[in-house]
Amino acid sequence: MRPAPSLERRNTSKDTHMARHLITSAIPYINGIKHLGNLVGSQLPADLYARYLRQRGHEVLFLCATDEHGTPAELAAAKAGKPVAEYCAEMHSVQADIADGFGLSFDHFGRSSSPQNHALTQQFAGRLADMGLIREVTEDMVYSNADGRFLPDRYIEGTCPNCGFDSARGDQCDNCTKQLDPTDLIDPRSTISGSTDLEVRTTKHLYLRQSELKDDLAAWIESKTDWPVLTTSIAKKWLNDGDGLQDRGITRDLDWGIPVKKGDADWPGMEGKVFYVWFDAPIEYIACAQEWEAAGKGTDWARWWRTDKGADDVTYTQFMGKDNVPFHTLSFPATIKGTQEPWKLVDYIKSFNYLNYDGGQFSTSRGRGVFMDQALEILPADYWRWWLLSHAPESSDAEFTWEAFQTDVNKDLADVLGNFVSRITKFCRSKFGEAVPEAGTQGPDEEALIAALTTRIRAFEQHMDNREVRKSAAELRAIWVLGNEYLQEQAPWTTIKTDPDRAAMQVRTGLNLIRLYAVLSAAFIPDASKTMLDAMQTDDASWPNDVAAAMTALRAGHAFTVPENLFRKLTDDEREEWAERFAGTRD
Ligand code: MF3
Ligand code: ZN
Repeated sequence: MRPAPSLERRNTSKDTHMARHLITSAIPYINGIKHLGNLVGSQLPADLYARYLRQRGHEVLFLCATDEHGTPAELAAAKAGKPVAEYCAEMHSVQADIADGFGLSFDHFGRSSSPQNHALTQQFAGRLADMGLIREVTEDMVYSNADGRFLPDRYIEGTCPNCGFDSARGDQCDNCTKQLDPTDLIDPRSTISGSTDLEVRTTKHLYLRQSELKDDLAAWIESKTDWPVLTTSIAKKWLNDGDGLQDRGITRDLDWGIPVKKGDADWPGMEGKVFYVWFDAPIEYIACAQEWEAAGKGTDWARWWRTDKGADDVTYTQFMGKDNVPFHTLSFPATIKGTQEPWKLVDYIKSFNYLNYDGGQFSTSRGRGVFMDQALEILPADYWRWWLLSHAPESSDAEFTWEAFQTDVNKDLADVLGNFVSRITKFCRSKFGEAVPEAGTQGPDEEALIAALTTRIRAFEQHMDNREVRKSAAELRAIWVLGNEYLQEQAPWTTIKTDPDRAAMQVRTGLNLIRLYAVLSAAFIPDASKTMLDAMQTDDASWPNDVAAAMTALRAGHAFTVPENLFRKLTDDEREEWAERFAGTRD
């Protein structure tokens, strides 16, 4: 049941346009398990694209990791009563197992706390300092004596000086929306301990002078005319809306994180401080390739990341939710460009809107919506993969409802695809036995089918190449429907009474369609795809560059078996039970 490789290994096609693709998914925070909205906004579409490109014969490096630093990780560890390093190690393996359960075919699932990322982050900071792009800023920050630490803005609460709301945060009042400084709050308290024993202390921090790079970044974004509008519009908004590209603090007064150093050397005045999590997290994309090499999974990480070492030939695509876009279009490129070293820059940023849950939002704190571990407890991965991908929130926010989930799964997976596979194989077994029947020759109806398939398969490839997830799913569904329509019209169960040879040919066509569907559907529903190929007892998962040839891949006499039902139908009782169970109770 484990991820990809089986199919790729079976792919014997020689693609003459073999290219190299680096793919990364936004790296999920370590604290807690992600919900289906997170999954469909980054990891899942990235996996779809990676699987597809491997199938087409391209060389792919698909990386993801856990984002382990920052206050939320510290607090979650404290809540779990564990040392933060231990907590992160455990949660990393929990997340890795769940990713595996969803068939996410990462070449490596790394950790932003890795030694590689420590060294690389310190190296980047040192280089940026050498390039004159780091300045030191002295700031007043709130220190909590009871907690023994500085408090970031959102860990301070108090009364709003503007409207009197008693739970305003250090950075903003949620009642009147006024932007605040922690020092503005009346009766401030720590949200960690509730302590009011707070004082203002002076501390020094490093700022990345990304304002220096504004013109360079603006021209670069401007040149990306093929990027999704969602990506470029967010980037441009940040570039142009006044304070968008301010210099940004890249250090924090925390214990957990990457110690501030200038390469290998100490950074005077920065003792006891760490890099800000948003500085080190994207650098993990690079460090992850080093981890991949260190783990013995590949060689020559630099071939993917250094343009002086071969990465010029690489197409690099990043996948993420829209909240991550500013960091990937501006902050991380500023880090890269600022070094003036030959690091690979991203070629395409695929961003997603939000998936909402049943008339509201997914909520981690209230346990509202389905989380990745729960999803796998109730249904196999392919059900989720298909529904989420075919409803990917590309052009606007999308919504998960149990009614839609039940309707679509039952129709697309059970009625259209599953039913097709089971009807053909069972009919063949009962009338001709468990081998591809020999008699009859294809005629105009089959030619028409092949022509229709060819048109749709070429469109499917286009959409997949363009990373258009929903359009790809719609095309794939239409390809499944073609088979159903063919079967419905040809009705071999009727034909057999008058023309058994023709019925044999129709069944042979149907069996070949099953193999074809296994190949085309593999990136969406890898487990069902494997079941279909196994049932057809073939290793031939080559891409249908020539559809007519693909439709005769299984020759007369080739043995097959009738697979278990590919997909079952979801009942009304289940739907109601799940809607109840995931409505969210905690508050
Ligand atoms: N952890 C962040 C989130 O879940 C994403 C970090 S992506 C990276 O929103 F670029 F910083 F790595
Ligand atoms: Zn207020």
